[in-house]
Amino acid sequence: MTYSQTQPIVQAVNIHKSFKEVKALNGVDLEIMPSEFTALLGPNGAGKTTLVEIIEGIQFPDTGEIKLFGKHWKGNKDELHHQIGISLQETRFEDKLTTRETLKMFASFYGLNNTRVDEILSIVNLQEKQRSYVVNLSGGQRQKLALGISLIHNPKLLILDEPTTGLDPTARREIWDILHSLQETHGTSMILTTHYMEEAENLCKNIVIIDKGKVLAKGTLEELISASKTSEIIQFKVLNKSLFPDFTNYSDVKQIEKDEISGLVTMQVSNTSDFLPELIGKINLAGCGIAELRCRYVTLDDLFIQMTGRKLTDA
Ligand SMILES: Nc1ncnc2c1ncn2[C@@H]1O[C@H](COP(=O)(O)OP(=O)(O)O)[C@@H](O)[C@H]1O
Ligand SMILES: [Mg+2]
Repeated sequence: MTYSQTQPIVQAVNIHKSFKEVKALNGVDLEIMPSEFTALLGPNGAGKTTLVEIIEGIQFPDTGEIKLFGKHWKGNKDELHHQIGISLQETRFEDKLTTRETLKMFASFYGLNNTRVDEILSIVNLQEKQRSYVVNLSGGQRQKLALGISLIHNPKLLILDEPTTGLDPTARREIWDILHSLQETHGTSMILTTHYMEEAENLCKNIVIIDKGKVLAKGTLEELISASKTSEIIQFKVLNKSLFPDFTNYSDVKQIEKDEISGLVTMQVSNTSDFLPELIGKINLAGCGIAELRCRYVTLDDLFIQMTGRKLTDA
């Protein structure tokens, strides 16, 4: 299939999808260009899996239009299946097969042979586990196998649903390295869903923040941060909470969040260097005492709090 590099490879227009009274997707638009890495970032229940499954042709929207490589799923199923590689949120394997046998089986679906199996084992760094039964693989190794399967037919677009959820940091980092090198060596486009802001920041040029079935914001990390109300954060712990002064009417303070249990205060401010002396002065006057003061730039998590009042990791 020839397809221009300047046309979007995914076009989703005004997608709606409900499950009884639950609006899983409520008017989603999405456009992905070739060779781009896009993160669909949102908390549990945001609608990420529903959206990727609609892109994958596994589910169908109630209304709205979805096109891959300029084509609808209807009438183009076989062709589109060859263009995309998918890894579902939960992958079940045949436990009685080895890693190699599993890859061999999937390779046979596409008429591919052992050479491709060896290439995949090398790409996902599972050579040493090729003779292990799948049932004995660790969580990270299973995810690498799922990734290997999604890559077997050399797809142009890879769609990964929560590829590192539940993995330890080392296993997560290893998956990131594999995905980075895929992008560099194969020019594969990728959509991944995640609720880890570090994953979106680390892997994806484009970030689409999604919550309650709606796209809240999209762009590069820099675009999202520069579009936010503020880009600076001051955080500290208050030692005597009852004496903490009121900052709600300060124009410098765009948002203030207090964790009643830990005493952690998070302030989004327009300019740290302007506001910090005033903050310290007022705190000294009140005598409430603070500890662990730090200043930093906003993260995607802060942006999500700005937009929804909740944390990305809140269920
Ligand atoms: N098959 C289904 N039946 C009923 N409700 C569903 C189904 N799939 C998803 N949902 C609901 O739709 C919303 C979005 O789910 P999902 O797309 O899985 O979110 P995410 O992947 O972001 O966690 C949730 O409220 C979920 O409970
Ligand atoms: Mg999901």
